[in-house]
Amino acid sequence: MVATWLEVLVGGFLLESVEGTGMPTDRLSRRTIVALSAVGVLSAAVGIFTRAGTDAIQRVLGQSVTLPRPATESDTSLEAAIANRRSRREYGDQSLGRDDLGQLLWAAQGITDRLRGHRAAPSAGALYPLELYVVVGDPGVEGVDTGVYRYRPRSHDLVQTSAEDVQAELRAAALDQDDVEDAAIDIVVCAVDERTTGKYGERGASRYVPMEAGHVGENVYLQAESRSLATVTIGAFEDERVRDLVGAPAAQRPLYVIPVGTRP
Ligand SMILES: Cc1cc2nc3c(=O)[nH]c(=O)nc-3n(C[C@H](O)[C@H](O)[C@H](O)COP(=O)(O)O)c2cc1C
Repeated sequence: MVATWLEVLVGGFLLESVEGTGMPTDRLSRRTIVALSAVGVLSAAVGIFTRAGTDAIQRVLGQSVTLPRPATESDTSLEAAIANRRSRREYGDQSLGRDDLGQLLWAAQGITDRLRGHRAAPSAGALYPLELYVVVGDPGVEGVDTGVYRYRPRSHDLVQTSAEDVQAELRAAALDQDDVEDAAIDIVVCAVDERTTGKYGERGASRYVPMEAGHVGENVYLQAESRSLATVTIGAFEDERVRDLVGAPAAQRPLYVIPVGTRP
């Protein structure tokens, strides 16, 4: 509770950065905490109108789900993952682990360079126009309620935006493709074109942003393969319907729906 309010105070930003370095926050000196809080109060005042501020408010209003620290090693070689990757449209009835979910989201958009904020997938101008939503359905994820969540790369966690089970409606919006409802979860990749067009103009939206969604899709495929999960990237759906179902703002356009589940 105290930690939550402290994070609100610092605009949901500074502590996330410190935690992300792996430094235990309980070992911070009193002076450092005072300094962080002072800067934090200032940033909260400014940040109230920014994404950091919105995140902090959402953290209080919506349920946030922490995710395990991602692994950067595994027993599967990159070559084996590429060689065996397939679009898999049939899923088992077991739920995913929270570590599976964290690993998939990290592969898609996780921060891999804390200092510069760079992510697992490349981005034109490092402007990061993509937002990830997770529709948790049935069988879902162990210990995570059904509903819709937004991934926050900086804090590597999720904030719940809806407690409604929308997986059946998402299937209908994706031209009734069964795999969307059969999977444990669906990752919905949305784009905020303006983040990229501000620098690159129309080429940013017509080329760079969809290219970036492609990078995300491949990373999810390979991470799923490495964990023996099943996934497929889906591009056939009604854009507005999908956007409404995940509760994304009008300035975002969905580019991919990515069901993921265990293998049957
Ligand atoms: C941009 C894009 C859109 C796709 N849309 C769909 C889709 O709507 N439904 C589907 O079942 N598969 C979809 N796929 C998956 C392809 O059907 C699949 O990649 C292709 O059949 C090759 O099989 P593989 O992925 O197993 O190599 C899509 C793939 C891409 C790259």
